[in-house]
Amino acid sequence: MAAVESEVRPGVGYAGRVFRQIQEVIDETGGQAGALIRVLQQAQGLIGYLPAPVIKTISRDLKLPLSEVYGIISFYHFFSMVPKGKYVIQVCMGTSCYVKGGQRILDALRKEWGLEPEGITPDGRFSLETVRCLGCCGLSPVMAIGEDVHRKVKPSQVKDILNSYR
Ligand code: FES
Repeated sequence: MAAVESEVRPGVGYAGRVFRQIQEVIDETGGQAGALIRVLQQAQGLIGYLPAPVIKTISRDLKLPLSEVYGIISFYHFFSMVPKGKYVIQVCMGTSCYVKGGQRILDALRKEWGLEPEGITPDGRFSLETVRCLGCCGLSPVMAIGEDVHRKVKPSQVKDILNSYR
């Protein structure tokens, strides 16, 4: 369940429920080895990403320096501090894909969908990331959407590819 950062603050309603659930996880795990990762995973599972107010709350309640919490979040690639779309688009910008048109795919996503790297469409359908290599360099340029890997992508195909995801 994705939410914009401004909605995820301690209080009432949806945000209040989320913070209470996170607090319960902290209470269950506090003091145990590995509590931080478990709390972060559960918080991200509830919200879809880790907004700054949630990170600060976790740091305070687990009595860990904020720098340590941010360090763990940036170390593990499965944590995200930005909202993710229903479908996550990964455009490969590794050497092979870059040379064969990775930037033109990004340009097409920006032009057709207003998507920037680390951005999300207003309807939450797509979010965009750039990656270094998706492991199929011989078929570059490559773009992944969720588990699907699209190979030898031409910028002119980008619109139709995305329209096939509902
Ligand atoms: S460089 Fe793009 S798949 Fe390897």
